[in-house]
Amino acid sequence: MKRPLHVAIAGATGAVGVEMVKTLESRNFPVASLKLLASARSAGKKVKFRGEDVTVEELGEKSFEGVDVALFSAGAGVSKQYREAVVRSGAVMIDNSSAFRMEDGVPLVVPEVNPEDAKNHHGVIANPNCTTIIMLVAVAPLHRAFGLKRLVASTYQSASGAGAKGMNELLSQTKALLAAANGMDELAERYRDVLSRVDPPSAFADPIAFNVFPHIDVFGPNGYSKEEMKMVNETRKILHEPAMRVTCTSVRVPALRAHSESLNLEFSRKVTPEEVRKVLADAPDVILRDDPAAGVYPMPVDASGHGEVLVGRIRSDLSNPDGTGIEMFVSGDQLLKGAAFNAVQIAELL
Ligand SMILES: NC(=O)c1ccc[n+]([C@@H]2O[C@H](COP(=O)([O-])OP(=O)(O)OC[C@H]3O[C@@H](n4cnc5c(N)ncnc54)[C@H](OP(=O)(O)O)[C@@H]3O)[C@@H](O)[C@H]2O)c1
Repeated sequence: MKRPLHVAIAGATGAVGVEMVKTLESRNFPVASLKLLASARSAGKKVKFRGEDVTVEELGEKSFEGVDVALFSAGAGVSKQYREAVVRSGAVMIDNSSAFRMEDGVPLVVPEVNPEDAKNHHGVIANPNCTTIIMLVAVAPLHRAFGLKRLVASTYQSASGAGAKGMNELLSQTKALLAAANGMDELAERYRDVLSRVDPPSAFADPIAFNVFPHIDVFGPNGYSKEEMKMVNETRKILHEPAMRVTCTSVRVPALRAHSESLNLEFSRKVTPEEVRKVLADAPDVILRDDPAAGVYPMPVDASGHGEVLVGRIRSDLSNPDGTGIEMFVSGDQLLKGAAFNAVQIAELL
């Protein structure tokens, strides 16, 4: 019989943390006790869990005594600071940050893809990058069936990827622009001027309202951003394919929640769109949304609030004459499948 677990959430008041509380409840996770942890700013706040108020506590060295599973979503610095305290207390840390993902001995787990890796942990299991999780839920079953040779991803990532701050920045800039400008032409002409008079951006380096920018996280010496390199390196680790050919361009778009991705896949044999649909129809946590003529395709507004990844626009890559290429589009809620839902699924594996 499953023993109920003592669970702690570090970062419980953030965009991901709030979803973790809801996911534990909606999946009926066997929780013996729930400790909600955040910074001193949020200590004393009340959060509902199963109809009861739980008081948020300030995170500290002693927070993990008696805890079995500690779900972390408070940023990489906080995860690094408290790793020792969690492991010392005998709890398992399931970490949403990028702090330990590429460390040897730390499993990087998408439960639909490599659940067996979770067993080989030494106190820490890493939740992969959100965009990588969403992509691999759809791509891993195809790799298993047809042998993936090369993957080209272009992402369309929502404001909530930068947390609660990101969503607020999108909303406040949008409101300011709509209030200040009369009509479309004026909006375009006065765009920079209006934004210079609202709060300076803090979540994004560029304006997010009515804009897109190909810049997520810092750029490295090879010209790729850190976010793009997470897609490359984490895909290789999760699929156990250290030489897999992967490339990515990560773009921020003014969607509020849920990330989308255009994926170009090259397999080691000919593959038809029908074969792809057949594999994906049976893949766990994949929902096919693939009837473009009827207006059915993945969109972030439909993916929001769901744990499953939507897949559609499946077609042969016409630039690939030997029939080994597939184009498709995916949308997934990065706060759920890309973070909270995936982390709770990992806890379920334990
Ligand atoms: N947003 C996403 O789509 C997403 C997806 C996957 C993974 N992640 C990762 O999940 C983590 C959290 O992201 P988020 O988007 O939820 O951020 P967020 O909305 O900014 O929330 C951050 C949370 O961490 C807490 N926190 C910050 N500094 C702290 C400190 N020194 N001590 C204790 N608690 C502290 C905050 O508490 P206060 O409320 O008290 O400030 C808040 O609860 C990050 O590592 C991020 O990379 C995010």
